[in-house]
Amino acid sequence: MRDGDIDRGTPESKAGRTVSLVVDGAMVEVPEGTSIMRAASMAGFQIPKLCATDSLGAFGSCRLCLVEIDGRAGTPASCTTPVAQGMVVRTQTERLKKLRRGVMELYISDHPLDCLTCAANGDCELQDMAGAVGLREVRYGYDGDNHLADVKDQSNPYFTYDPSKCIVCSRCVRACEEVQGTFALTIGGRGFESRVAASANVPFLESECVSCGACVQACPTATLIEKSVAEIGTPERTVATTCAYCGVGCSFNAEMRGDEVVRMTPSKNGKANSGHSCIKGRFAWGYAQHKDRILKPMIRASIDEPWREVTWDEAIAHTASEFKRIQAAYGHGSVGGITSSRCTNEETFVVQKMVRAAFGNNNVDTCARVCHSPTGYGLKTTFGTSAGTQDFVSVEQADVIVVIGANPTDGHPVFASRMKRRLREGAKLIVIDPRRIDLVHMPHVEASYHLALKPGTNVAVLTAMAHVIVTEGLIDQDFVATRCDGDAYAEWAAFVSDASRSPEATEAATGVPAAQLRGAARLYAAKGRNGAIYYGLGVTEHSQGTTAVMAIANLAMATGNIGREGVGVNPLRGQNNVQGSCDMGSFPHELSGYRHISDAATRALFEAAWGVSLDDEPGLRIPNMLDAAVDGHFKGLYVQGEDIAQSDPDTKHVVDGLKAMECVVVQDLFLNETANYAHVFLPGSTFLEKDGTFTNAERRIQRVRKTMAPKNGFGDWEITLKLSEALGYPMPYAHPSEIMDEIARLTPTFAGVSYEKLDELGSVQWPCNDKAPEGTPVMHRAGFARGKGLFVLTEYVATEEKIGPRFPLLLTTGRVLSQYNVGAQTRRTSNSLWHTEDRLEIHPHDAEQRGITDGAWVKLASRSGETSLRAQVTDRVAPGVVYTTFHHPNTQANVVTSEYSDWATNCPEYKVTAVQVMPSNGPTDWQRDYERHSVASRRVVEAAE
Ligand code: SF4
Ligand code: SF4
Ligand code: SF4
Ligand code: FES
Repeated sequence: MRDGDIDRGTPESKAGRTVSLVVDGAMVEVPEGTSIMRAASMAGFQIPKLCATDSLGAFGSCRLCLVEIDGRAGTPASCTTPVAQGMVVRTQTERLKKLRRGVMELYISDHPLDCLTCAANGDCELQDMAGAVGLREVRYGYDGDNHLADVKDQSNPYFTYDPSKCIVCSRCVRACEEVQGTFALTIGGRGFESRVAASANVPFLESECVSCGACVQACPTATLIEKSVAEIGTPERTVATTCAYCGVGCSFNAEMRGDEVVRMTPSKNGKANSGHSCIKGRFAWGYAQHKDRILKPMIRASIDEPWREVTWDEAIAHTASEFKRIQAAYGHGSVGGITSSRCTNEETFVVQKMVRAAFGNNNVDTCARVCHSPTGYGLKTTFGTSAGTQDFVSVEQADVIVVIGANPTDGHPVFASRMKRRLREGAKLIVIDPRRIDLVHMPHVEASYHLALKPGTNVAVLTAMAHVIVTEGLIDQDFVATRCDGDAYAEWAAFVSDASRSPEATEAATGVPAAQLRGAARLYAAKGRNGAIYYGLGVTEHSQGTTAVMAIANLAMATGNIGREGVGVNPLRGQNNVQGSCDMGSFPHELSGYRHISDAATRALFEAAWGVSLDDEPGLRIPNMLDAAVDGHFKGLYVQGEDIAQSDPDTKHVVDGLKAMECVVVQDLFLNETANYAHVFLPGSTFLEKDGTFTNAERRIQRVRKTMAPKNGFGDWEITLKLSEALGYPMPYAHPSEIMDEIARLTPTFAGVSYEKLDELGSVQWPCNDKAPEGTPVMHRAGFARGKGLFVLTEYVATEEKIGPRFPLLLTTGRVLSQYNVGAQTRRTSNSLWHTEDRLEIHPHDAEQRGITDGAWVKLASRSGETSLRAQVTDRVAPGVVYTTFHHPNTQANVVTSEYSDWATNCPEYKVTAVQVMPSNGPTDWQRDYERHSVASRRVVEAAE
């Protein structure tokens, strides 16, 4: 049992009514529908089992869990037999013991007897069950037909499949179906020939398997086992922590041997993931030990010089003196900082505190600027809170699910598995996306509607859906009358009802057939059903990103789909701590808890606590910092855990800005692209090396726990503290828990949060305060945070980024399952086997017109720049649309993205760029330079080592 929990064999019954029964003389009361196996476990008796586990439905194949029931003939399997009122069960009789030993004998007679050298020795349910049933000898011998010579499949980089150890219990097959929803495994053959097969019996790496690890987790033997266990040995201690990749925020147990991670196993108690994981959190943690990691501080006088390793004291003193010099020469506002959505809440909080208190200005921004800032602005305006409304488990009660501008199976895979389960149960799906994402059509999931809109027309589509809902009388009148601002609603209803906003009138602009759009709107608004909207960066990263978020909020309010389970507006956050970095006051105009810096009462609270006076003017956003740098007014930047040279739009402008600065400080794990323009490099620490908290997309605050000492010497929070002290503003926290205590004192939505509470409850969803001491899974139940919900007019304004004869195609971007953002971590793991390069998806029609074949090099050019990559000819994208990922720095999709951005928040318009695609001979000049440069900088680092 990897979770430290008891495996009760079958899932919990959700029935409200209970029944009582007697198991081995003990009375036990359990919900109706509970299996006898689970009831016995609740009574304290663990019935031997092999094919049962409580994360999967009962199967009843191994016959080890037999019991006797008074008044019933035979010995039924306890995992598949439900309890009944008054039932009397016996789990340990002589007859049962004999039967169980007989079953185990058969299993063991076809199993290698290499327990002592087996990687799972001590962590094997087959071994445990042999002991539990008292098996001491095998009467049949080992000479008959067996599978002992079957060959091991080692193709997957992370786990092996050894068929000689397989007991054909089907737990792996069921895990792949029920938990992950990929259906990659089957039991092939019949009887003695039965064997687990991946896809059409191909090696795992070539199959449909997405390496989520659910089958490995479910396997009771060493048949499916992590390679790291074989290499390092069985774990000796466990530390509960949180995945540092995406905004799902899966809970994991870091299983350790000494200070080495043996494996990361998903926690059954994790409220965001309920024991599931994806390839990144489960397996892609090796980057923490990668040789490219920089562990010693480095400085250089100019970016043309080689790096020089220095002590921490020298690096910090040099940085502080540079920032002081710059401020003396160019003024207080000439420096700023960028916080990271990859770092902990506590680290983010101290960076913004240092900027405001030690730099003495509000020039702090965060990488959320370039992803979900429109979510904050849009939901704050309409609902009153800058966050999603639900917990993840809410989707299990949704009847209609709308996925817009998100690709959950790649971007948020563990939540996607939960969503797919609900869809297999019969919920309807509407996908609004220019690209045919996997969810549109996959095993046992079929979207009712796929509105393949033209990139950049979200607002027109969402407003046309509102048109249908209003003009066809699908409004939830009660909800609107009691919960929303009446005047704003009336104005909005008149606005959307205008014929110019109908599906028919907007069809030409959006590319969505009017009939389809009407059908989707009717489905979402159907009375008596729960409609839930999930959206991602395909909504926010537009010039009208904020407008689209508000259009989504309008739809939810108009249909009464807010304030209960199964509904809501749910931003799927990209990075692990996007929500948290925004909550912590990382934006230049807001202190923690989204309180405006111009509010005198809020400022007074912080001024009293911090002992400084705060500037009441909002500071510079990232794009403004870069503009000011190019203009010569902004000279110093502290960047923690963010690679603006690769992830921000219009790379040339970013680079020009960085080059114009006199002191760029990068604090990160690796020498990233931004570090090419840095003067100080401060090595960062991984999530395995520090304490803190992350806040996931459901507002769930979860602990990150230190599993080993920081390899660079310090957690990131400690480095910021050192710098702040050197600047003359000491922040004497002894532990991140003290930072959280301060956050709680100063932030009403975090008032009840402490490490003690998080340890006690496992996690807490904010708001957490006197009114909601254990947190708030579903928001806006009785009323909106702002009082009445506010409908906002959402006029569609076409982006300035227009196609034309020179640039006739629209480029949109996204990510793949195996890689993460700019790939700094995942490219340094075996995940690269699945995605070795960024490719350009292009429709066969567009490819043929240009003489482009699948796999050929193409040049991708826009008004901002050009790059080359290889083409993938596919009808996943519509004619006129091309798509690529941005995981590899030698492709740099952001070289071509434009400078346009969201009107309210400056979030860049990554998702729409007018481009031309043409055949090419290979990489462009800058790409060749890049390769040369990165080889050179690797050499510099190696020399320094
Ligand atoms: S691989 Fe493991 S889980 Fe799958 S059938 Fe074999 S023993 Fe059972
Ligand atoms: S790793 Fe996941 S996707 Fe692959 S076979 Fe196992 S359960 Fe299925
Ligand atoms: S879904 Fe996200 S949080 Fe969960 S394991 Fe994968 S990357 Fe980590
Ligand atoms: S555990 Fe019940 S039949 Fe296998």
